[in-house]
Amino acid sequence: METKRVIVDGKVADPAFDEAVALLKAGQVVAFPTETVYGLGGVATNDEAVAGIYAAKGRPSDNPLIVHIGAFEQLDRYVMDLSDKAKACMKAFWPGPLTVICKVKPGTLSNKVTAGLDTVGIRMPNHPVALRLLRQLDEPVAAPSANTSGKPSPTEGVHVEEDLTGRIPLILDGGATGIGVESTVIDLTLDTPTILRPGGITKEMFESVIGPVIEPTHIEQKAGAPKAPGMKYTHYAPDAPVYQIACDVDVVTRAVATLHAEGKKVALLAPDAFSDIDSDWFFTFGDGSHAQMAAHLYDALRACNATDADIVLATITDKSDVGSAIMNRLEKSAGGRFYEA
Ligand code: TXA
Ligand code: MG
Repeated sequence: METKRVIVDGKVADPAFDEAVALLKAGQVVAFPTETVYGLGGVATNDEAVAGIYAAKGRPSDNPLIVHIGAFEQLDRYVMDLSDKAKACMKAFWPGPLTVICKVKPGTLSNKVTAGLDTVGIRMPNHPVALRLLRQLDEPVAAPSANTSGKPSPTEGVHVEEDLTGRIPLILDGGATGIGVESTVIDLTLDTPTILRPGGITKEMFESVIGPVIEPTHIEQKAGAPKAPGMKYTHYAPDAPVYQIACDVDVVTRAVATLHAEGKKVALLAPDAFSDIDSDWFFTFGDGSHAQMAAHLYDALRACNATDADIVLATITDKSDVGSAIMNRLEKSAGGRFYEA
């Protein structure tokens, strides 16, 4: 299959949107940007389209998909028994990087979307290309991140191309995504609202709207039965092993020297202030702020695959606000490993 990547601007109509809508209506899958990462979309009511998403990504079929909508009116067609807290969160944070787990209306969405659960994750993304596509289509779109399963999520159209060329017909390329880590997933069907995956909407932001919210740590989540089934799989991993390391120039300098003495080639992922360290490759986390770290993380992890590094060192950050989402992804890509001299 030939894969076309077309540059689009969501603020203006473009024949590429007509083409994307026609492909989606015909049960095919199309990649498109959201404000978090690129999604690989298929019509969520169409079994064949949803099967096509799992096949293109090589994704385990027990891992349910997020359903994207472009307008509030679409919501009631697919979900029921919405709590007041769920409505308040949607009103406060949609469109935006928030996925709300809701009770699904039986028989409305493909069973393959929910992977047999009686709930569904719904989100209204805040990206002009995604919104134009969803509104023109007027159908719910199931869309996981548009990467090969296990690889870092794509934050640029070319990342999608790297992973899925030959497997999908069309990539709508709206440039680099803004936030860089996937949406926050919150379960509002439970008595106490629980964050299943941290993201751009933080615990503090929820609490200002609906009161107390639980955010289990990575360890707590590992210990219990995984509520968001996707959390149990290896994620965001480049080919070489990733180690977290303290965000300290002296510590990193010594680590690189030790690894070199062992004959290992090192890729370093860190803020610009670390760029003078003698690593074999350096991929930036920008100024090291949470916003820039989130925006650069997946691109930096992906860039490691174009090197022959033996080991990847990535500097950590604190878990306040979006730091929680960043560290959740970094801990997973490192499989929990931490480099200590
Ligand atoms: O930012 C995002 O959310 C991106 C863009 C494309 O919208 N999408 C995304 O989808 O990250 P995906 O499929 O890579 O991640 C979906 C996560 C998984 O961890 C999955 O297990 C969880 O959401 N999930 C989906 N439906 C669920 C449900 N009914 N109950 C619990 N967890 C669910
Ligand atoms: Mg994903």
